[in-house]
Amino acid sequence: MHLITKVSAVATLFAASAAFASGGSHGIHGNIENGKNIFMNGKGDVPACNSCHGQDGMGDDAMGTPRLAGQGYVFLVKQLEDFAADKRMDTTMFIMNTNAKGLSPEDRRDVAAYAASLSKELVSSDMKQVKELGNPVGVRHLGKSIVMYGATDRGIPSCYSCHSFNGRGAAPVYPMIGGQKYVYLINQLKKWRDGSRANDPMGQMRAVAKNMTDDDIHNVATYLTSAPRTTMGNSRVPDDYPHE
Ligand code: HEC
Ligand code: HEC
Repeated sequence: MHLITKVSAVATLFAASAAFASGGSHGIHGNIENGKNIFMNGKGDVPACNSCHGQDGMGDDAMGTPRLAGQGYVFLVKQLEDFAADKRMDTTMFIMNTNAKGLSPEDRRDVAAYAASLSKELVSSDMKQVKELGNPVGVRHLGKSIVMYGATDRGIPSCYSCHSFNGRGAAPVYPMIGGQKYVYLINQLKKWRDGSRANDPMGQMRAVAKNMTDDDIHNVATYLTSAPRTTMGNSRVPDDYPHE
């Protein structure tokens, strides 16, 4: 059942992503130098991305911003397009909607290309800081169980089944959620659950999150932010990301 949903989502999104592929048949289609310049210095009224997303694009729990570094290119372009078209609303005062609208489609691709080119290394949230910021923290091994196997008796599929091993991402459709910032993860899971984020193809994430309790969300996010991309002793990640 889930597999069928996933396969048709990929087919749909492949068709959509062809629209981004202005520069060739595959790979990243953006001017990374221009993207870097926007990321570091901003452009026009749009502030520098690193002022909120961190110098190295690793995100910031205090500001609730996501890590962009090493995220899939096609996914990043889609998010910027969705913000620009108000298909995804940024609840924090519409910052990202305004930012995305302030950039041309070419600039959005360029800055996405730059962010995607940054490090994929695991940089976990500092859970001490997360606690000090007033966030409840979950139980890591309970989160790991849901990430790996789901809680099928309660209608929660494994995250692995779509987002790949430990949430390392499966481009072009499924973003990297392993190594993502804790505060961002819990905010997004709650937004998928209450439907205030609804830019997921065929409601896939809303279906996943609707059965999750607050504890599930905190447990899963606690595991994911510290989830390595590979199993112990294996440094290789399969080269199955034609669109990264
Ligand atoms: C003033 C702070 C701020 C600035 C500047 C900023 N962002 Fe953001 N960005 C945010 C916040 C906050 C979110 C999370 C929004 C939410 O919770 O829905 C976000 C989310 C995003 C996302 C969604 C990522 C994902 O994993 O879904 C992308 C992509 C993004 N920003 C790109 C950029 C780019 C590119 C720039 C520079 C042109 C930029 N941002 C500048 C605050 C900022
Ligand atoms: C049926 C496939 C599917 C399953 C299973 C799934 N996801 Fe997702 N998820 C998606 C898709 C598709 C997106 C991208 C939505 C978009 O384009 O904005 C996504 C996006 C997300 C995001 C937002 C990432 C970002 O950077 O904005 C989070 C967080 C997330 N998923 C967490 C989870 C967790 C936790 C689980 C397991 C409990 C899970 N997902 C299981 C399909 C799935």
